[in-house]
Amino acid sequence: MERSLVLIKPDAMQRGLAGTITSRLENLGLKLVAMKMLHPDKALAQRHYAIHKDKPFYNSLVNYISSAPIIACVFEGEQAVEAIRKAIGATDPAQAEKGTIRGDFGLDIEKNSVHGSDSTATAEEEIKLFFSQDEMFSY
Ligand code: RTP
Ligand code: MG
Repeated sequence: MERSLVLIKPDAMQRGLAGTITSRLENLGLKLVAMKMLHPDKALAQRHYAIHKDKPFYNSLVNYISSAPIIACVFEGEQAVEAIRKAIGATDPAQAEKGTIRGDFGLDIEKNSVHGSDSTATAEEEIKLFFSQDEMFSY
């Protein structure tokens, strides 16, 4: 069993895509075990994307993620990390295949609608940033 952190980014929230994106991931057979809406402050966005702190797009990315409310969720299931990355598609929506979330809904490389953890180790770290133990459910 793996867990992955998914963020429904501001561009998707603003276009009413939260349900569509959640539904696509549920349809992979993954279980939603945590979910919350929040407006991340810059500090949280900086910590979440700390691995990119030396990249030229970092400040813009942090400003973008903290610009509006998002939904954070944790999905659990077999191979959850890879299954979600595949369903999300390539980072740049212009390169993402049709039928993937970014291929269908992403606007540009920054406003690409959704985040998914890139490894199980990253997932555990990211989940801790957004959720406490009592916000995670087993059912
Ligand atoms: P994410 O972490 O959001 O799931 O995206 P990812 O793994 O597909 O891509 P990553 O390399 O981790 O980049 C994180 C986010 O930074 C923005 N980005 N902008 N302007 C650029 O060249 C550029 N490259 C990446 C994207 O919003 C990407 O999702
Ligand atoms: Mg990433």
